[in-house]
Order: sequence, then structure tokens, then C-alpha cells
Amino acid sequence: MKPSSSTSEALFERARGRMPGGVSSPVRAFGKVGGAPRYISRAEGPFMWDEDGNQLLDFCLAWGPNILGHAHPGVVEAVTRTVRDGLAFGTTHRHEVALADLVLEAFPEAQLTRFVVSGTEAVATALRLARGSTGRALTLKFTGCYHGHVDSMLVKAGSGLVTQGLSDSKGVPEGLAATTVVVPLDDEAALAAAFEKYGPQLAAAIVEPLPANNGLLVQRKAWLEALRAHCTRNGTVLIFDEVINGFRFHFGGYGRLMGVKPDLTTLGKILGGGLPVAAVVGTRELLSQLAPLGGVYQAGTMAGNPVALAAGIATLTELKKPGTYEALEALGAHLESRWAQRGRGLGLRRFGSLFWPYLDAVTPPTTAEAIRADVVARYHDAYRGWLDRGVYLPPSGYEVGFLSTAHTTAHVDRLLDVMLEA
Ligand SMILES: Cc1ncc(COP(=O)(O)O)c(C=O)c1O
Repeated sequence: MKPSSSTSEALFERARGRMPGGVSSPVRAFGKVGGAPRYISRAEGPFMWDEDGNQLLDFCLAWGPNILGHAHPGVVEAVTRTVRDGLAFGTTHRHEVALADLVLEAFPEAQLTRFVVSGTEAVATALRLARGSTGRALTLKFTGCYHGHVDSMLVKAGSGLVTQGLSDSKGVPEGLAATTVVVPLDDEAALAAAFEKYGPQLAAAIVEPLPANNGLLVQRKAWLEALRAHCTRNGTVLIFDEVINGFRFHFGGYGRLMGVKPDLTTLGKILGGGLPVAAVVGTRELLSQLAPLGGVYQAGTMAGNPVALAAGIATLTELKKPGTYEALEALGAHLESRWAQRGRGLGLRRFGSLFWPYLDAVTPPTTAEAIRADVVARYHDAYRGWLDRGVYLPPSGYEVGFLSTAHTTAHVDRLLDVMLEA
């Protein structure tokens, strides 16, 4: 029997009269998969419950922050304890020092970090820092990589925009968009040509070292090394946007896993353990150019909020415990091997606890250009059936799914029962 979702439908109807599209962020509107989104009232471990009382096994996990599952007891306890001492001070406090210690332990190539509130803000800060320190104006980015809604980054930016069928956003002055040079992923010749033409003008090259916003487009190590080499030769600041990747595969960044060092790293999502915390991490030389030490301005009323930072500290402390990442990798490997057995040849790309179903009998692509809209449409067509059977995946086939330490192999088997039987 189809579960009732009448309360969600009524709430969505009211929301649409009050908020653009009824949502606070576009993909939540279920535009591609159709129907009303579920209104969630509570979440714990791998589950969410909607306003109609339906239990949903969650593989979207707030789009990545909840690597420990929802409402992890240690994180909730840390937040509750911190809240009792006040919600915001707008001053320095000990949680900043504690989280900075953890972040710099995880990113040994860096000496300083600045805490901000969102991934978008971290990227805006990193780009300004790169422009300020080099005195150059241009940025190189890659098709399909998403770096938040920073004006100059809304050029070939990945899932949200692909999902909406927009190649660009209105409201970005031409002059700003023109400061962004875009090349495809996985293409050393295009990379070399871009540096040949623009190298001395490029302040920054920014990349998701494991692109995970427009499918899961795993790149070759040699390609990342080539990017590093071009940046070094041209005096271009290399920014690894690890808002999704950071702390996901080990206690550090994807860059260190690949043995490629960026000059700056942006973090978010897991860093706040479900509350809004993001950061720019980098060398003393670069970060010292931020105000109040240097002439590159950046500030924030809510930056370094004590309650949010306490959630981040508790999350990273839990992740550091021996065996955590091994367990996540084992769960991911289970998903991959069972999919291979049962998936009738359908594509699945998996790295650690991230997975991307590509519902065709081909090897999933490694560039945004190679993703076929008709294949992604199969995901959208099947989505409501999965939801009605109690499995919550990202409501867009361009987005990746997430596993957490709260999931078990039984939960993964349930996911495959629902996805592969339909
Ligand atoms: C790689 C990457 N960079 C930046 C952002 C923007 O972060 P936020 O949504 O916190 O502004 C995201 C968000 O999904 C992201 O995945």
C-alpha cells in the first residue's frame, strides 16, 4: 500500500505560497522527481520520520554532514552541554582553538585556518585570498564541479544547475563570469592549453579533487598531479574544495590520500557535524594575508559559533577513533560487491562511503559532458517508488548517495532490495 503523505503535501502547499518554490535550497523542491517533498519531523541514526509518521531509511544524510548518522549521541551531548553556556558570544573562545587543533592535525601541509559558516563562504574567502596574494584576477574551474553559489563560480557548476537545466545563473555580471575560465575534467590537453593561454593571469585553480556534485567523477591521480604542476609553474594558487571530501575517507583530505598538496583547502559539511561550520585551511604565508593580519578582508557575525564548533569537535573526535574509516570502507565495499552481483550490469561508482548509481549497463563516466540525461532520467522515474518503499535517496540523479557509521550491511541490503527490484 502506498504510504500517506497528506501532511507533507499540505505543508508544501502552504510553503509554496510563502517561500520561492516552497524551499530554502532549490533541490529540496523535488523538481526532477516530482510530487511533494517529505516534511521531516525527526531523525535518528540512519532513519528520518516524516510528518505523516513514515520511517525513511536515509542515504542523503543532509547532503553529507551526518557521517555519524543523525543525532549521534556524542554530538548531541556536546551541543546540549555547550548550549547551556550561551548560544553566541561574538568573541574568541576555547572551542575555536580545539577545533583548529583537530583541523591542522588533519591537514599537515597547512599552518592556519579561518572558520566561516558555509561552504560557499569558504570558497569566496579562498578565491579572494588567492586574488589578493597574487594580484591576479582570473580563476580556473572545471565543468561539473560545484563550489557553492559564489557569483564567479556559477559557471558550468554542476548538479543544482544541471538539474534545473540552466547552464548559468542570472544576476551574475558578465565581467564577473568572465573572470572564470572553465575546462573539462580528465583532459590534460585542455588543462595545458588553459595554462598556456591564461597561466600568468590565473590567481587560482579550484577543483573538487574528487568531484561529487555532478555524479561521482573519480579523476586519475596523474591528472591531479598535472594540475598541481601547472599551478606551481605559473604561480597559481591551487585550491582543493573538500567541502564534501574532507574527513570523509580518512582523518584528513582527499588530496593527502592522493599524495597531491593544495595551497588552500576549503572544508564544510562534516566539519560542523550537522551544524553550520566551514573553513579555509592553508599555509601561514597565504592565511596571514587575511584581516586582521593582512589586507584581504573577511569577517562574520556567526563565524566560529561556539555551539556549532562543539558539534564539529565532537564529530571529528568520534571520527578519529580507531576503526571508524575502515568500517565505512567495508560498508561501501559491501554495497559495491552486492550491486555487482544483483545489479544486472547497471553502473555504480563508489568511493569510500560515497556512491552514485548510473542506471545503464556501462561504466559510469568521468566527465560531466559524458553524463547522459536519459540515464539520469531513469533514476528520476524510479525515485517515487523507492520513496514509497521507505528509502530516501537524494532527489536528483546527479547527486551522490552517502553512507554513515549508523548504517549496517542490513541497511545497505535493504537499499539494494528497493532500488534493484523496481
Ligand atoms: C564541493 C562543494 N563546495 C562548496 C559547496 C557549498 O557549500 P554550502 O552549501 O555550505 O554553501 C558545496 C555544497 O554542496 C560543495 O559540495
